[in-house]
Amino acid sequence: MNLARLIADMPKAELHLHIEGTLEPDLMMALARRNNVTLPYATVEDIRQAYEFNCLQDFLDVYYLGMSVLLKREDFFDLAWAYLEKMAAQNVTHVEVFFDPQGHTTRGVSFDTVLSGLTDAFDKAERDFGITSKLIMCFLRHLSEDEAFDSLEQACACKSHIHGVGLDSSEQGHPPSKFKRVFAEAREQGFTPVAHAGEEGPPAYVAEALDDLHIERIDHGNRALEDPSLVKRIADSGMAMTVCPLSNKRLQVVPDLANHPLRHMLNAGICATVNSDDPSYFGGYVTDNYLAIAEALNLTRSEIVQLGRNSFIGSFMNEADKRAAVAHFDEFVDKAR
Ligand code: HPA
Ligand code: ZN
Repeated sequence: MNLARLIADMPKAELHLHIEGTLEPDLMMALARRNNVTLPYATVEDIRQAYEFNCLQDFLDVYYLGMSVLLKREDFFDLAWAYLEKMAAQNVTHVEVFFDPQGHTTRGVSFDTVLSGLTDAFDKAERDFGITSKLIMCFLRHLSEDEAFDSLEQACACKSHIHGVGLDSSEQGHPPSKFKRVFAEAREQGFTPVAHAGEEGPPAYVAEALDDLHIERIDHGNRALEDPSLVKRIADSGMAMTVCPLSNKRLQVVPDLANHPLRHMLNAGICATVNSDDPSYFGGYVTDNYLAIAEALNLTRSEIVQLGRNSFIGSFMNEADKRAAVAHFDEFVDKAR
């Protein structure tokens, strides 16, 4: 089987995906019309033209603007369902999905509206496609600790629908330590902690996320590679890192994909995984990310298999489900010679 076919056909999990980052321009336009929201774009083409980013903040400005069309429960359902239909077509069998409630509650959309629309879609995807999922609620790190505590309080009222808590938005100047007490309370309440770290921020932010937030997975983590002792620590811990190649390219975290550090991560023994981050904004869903990085780095069959396998190993499935998913993956790869 050729490698592009292997990538397309192998079972995969996606572990770093912001549901609001799957809002495609045509759905954005349709929801703007449905909800009478005025956008600063006249056409779908205008929206696409706005997707030129020099850094994370350039993207975030456009991302928060795009969210303004999401107002009702059915809008969140339509958003998530469009993503899940694509995942079914890409042989993605498990997803762990971020959502940004503060991006909505600050606009007057209730936490319950957001969560119910999303869970309607994820429940239907399990029934219709057999895609399993876990939701991870992110705190927007440019907002205050108090605001994060408010969001956590709302999450505590719907624990059965939310597996973990994460940390996203503008990294520089908002170190993990700012949310040390929020994460302590979240862990106390049973949420699994993760954080974006080392995307633009220094290696010290990755160390802080480990030491202060006690995270169980690192989102991005690229700049950890600048500190060899940190690399060894991450590799020795077995902790997964959720790498997003096309995002890194579009946000200029790497100069180009040929210089992406993914192979170095694997060679260092890190459980690296491939993910799409915000696929509507960065030019591709998870399979597109595998294809692009495989081509740019000339990844071998065994490296691609390792990445696919890592996507299940690094997931937050319970041990029995994880064992079954890895066995299913290995069986597929054995047959796909
Ligand atoms: N980084 C930080 N915050 C985000 C991202 C990201 O890549 N995507 C959505 N929010
Ligand atoms: Zn992200």
